[in-house]
Amino acid sequence: MDDLHFFDIHTHVLPCVDDGSTSVEQSLELLTNLKNDGVTDVMFTPHFRLDMFLTPAAKDIEVFNSFTKLAKENGLNLNFYLGQELHHHSDMPSLIKQGKALTLNKSKYILLEFSWHVKPLSYQSIIKSYTDIGITPIVVHFERFPYFDISDVALMRDLGALFQVNAYSIFGVESAERAERVKKMLSLGYVDFIASDYHKNKKILLNDAYNFVSQEYGRDLADKLLYTNAKKLFGN
Ligand SMILES: [Fe+2]
Repeated sequence: MDDLHFFDIHTHVLPCVDDGSTSVEQSLELLTNLKNDGVTDVMFTPHFRLDMFLTPAAKDIEVFNSFTKLAKENGLNLNFYLGQELHHHSDMPSLIKQGKALTLNKSKYILLEFSWHVKPLSYQSIIKSYTDIGITPIVVHFERFPYFDISDVALMRDLGALFQVNAYSIFGVESAERAERVKKMLSLGYVDFIASDYHKNKKILLNDAYNFVSQEYGRDLADKLLYTNAKKLFGN
């Protein structure tokens, strides 16, 4: 790509709907930071988690509509999309069917998060509970789930899951171990998307991730992981 353009499929930038931005002003600032790092397409993905983040989908849609209008009025003329980051719960497939949990830009893809600490009894049946209703889960920041082995990724991929990793994980921002896991996944071709998972006070590093993947694996793959794969699936 001559000019940087990234499609960020995982962000917490909408105001006052989860643990991301706490005000409209802060959201505009976070969005500006994304734009300055090369982002042209932003998927807003507030948390939706039954025991913790319960903002109803209808509220996310309302905030999305008003905030993106304001962002454009403030000169932030990016492409905007809405989804949610869904924390797995056995009720989630049914909530998706009812429109109470959101897919990514009304597609058949979702961002799916697992517990940070407890390995699910059967991730096979979890993945299947989504694919059975025609939904493809994109597992978010796999590097953060220490109880999974990299070999689990191959099995989940066979069941139809895709994988997103966080850009800053490549650089060991959270831990050297997570950086190793991401690099291993990249080397095995197990990554479909690199996104920021941007919360206030966190780093974006999409531009750095693009340069890293370009150097290690070629620009073709960098373009796919940071733009083309998402544009193909979610672009309007
Ligand atoms: Fe997230």
